[in-house]
Amino acid sequence: MSAPDYPVIEVVDLVKTYGAGETLVQALDGVSLTVKRGEYAAIMGASGSGKTTLMNILGCLDVQTSGRYLLDGVDVNTLDDRQLARVRNRRVGFVFQTFSLIPRTSVLANVELPLAYAGMKTADRRRRARAALATVGLADRADREPNELSGGQQQRVAVARALVTAPALVLADEPTGNLDTASSAEVLAVLDQLNQLGRTILLITHDQRVAQHAHRLIELLDGRVVSDKPMPPLANGDAYGGRHRPFATPDAKAVPA
Ligand SMILES: Nc1ncnc2c1ncn2[C@@H]1O[C@H](COP(=O)(O)OP(=O)(O)OP(=O)(O)O)[C@@H](O)[C@H]1O
Ligand SMILES: [Mg+2]
Repeated sequence: MSAPDYPVIEVVDLVKTYGAGETLVQALDGVSLTVKRGEYAAIMGASGSGKTTLMNILGCLDVQTSGRYLLDGVDVNTLDDRQLARVRNRRVGFVFQTFSLIPRTSVLANVELPLAYAGMKTADRRRRARAALATVGLADRADREPNELSGGQQQRVAVARALVTAPALVLADEPTGNLDTASSAEVLAVLDQLNQLGRTILLITHDQRVAQHAHRLIELLDGRVVSDKPMPPLANGDAYGGRHRPFATPDAKAVPA
């Protein structure tokens, strides 16, 4: 089956305001963005620039004040709460800075969770959860509990949980924010691999070396997209895990650190 030709994300003039009157905050101020199937894009920007707000809307955890958002060709605004929950569960995979795994519950059960919510039969969800764990290199840890794993391994479990429903989109908000360099490299290698398998990934990060793993760099400032271009190479130092960067042009200017 060939992939549909509409983009995974199409956002037009997205506005999000919080509060009212004196306390009104314009968290997103007219963001337009298209992300095609198979892209790997990093979103960067200063604290408060609107990254998490954007990600929450893209992940259907929140709704925009105005503007249009099509996820996988579906206008999210037209969905009722039940349909929205279904889209959130099946079309989007989330990876958060805090791994948000359920403690004292096996790794396998953690990864199965989105499938349990989706009402899948036990045998089927076991099989899919094991396959997802194999993808992130943790097939042999299925019966452990999260606190028996390293930070990098826990985050790879979270990545397995994010991909177990075969979502159109994987959203990662500072996925390496709580990890040391070696663990960050592990998690980023898994994201690289997922992208090579055709998954669409949006990665929010403050760290240039993390962002290097993406092919496209979208920069936000005060709720607006101020730059959107192929990922330029780093001036010095290397991406965690030394990723090959096929899309960077040789003369692209490095972003100042
Ligand atoms: N629930 C909320 N209520 C009111 N204001 C909010 C809320 N969430 C975010 N904001 C405001 O919206 C703006 C954008 O916040 P957002 O969390 O999207 O920034 P961010 O780019 O993710 O920052 P960081 O890098 O610190 O995570 C900020 O000014 C923030 O204070
Ligand atoms: Mg944030």
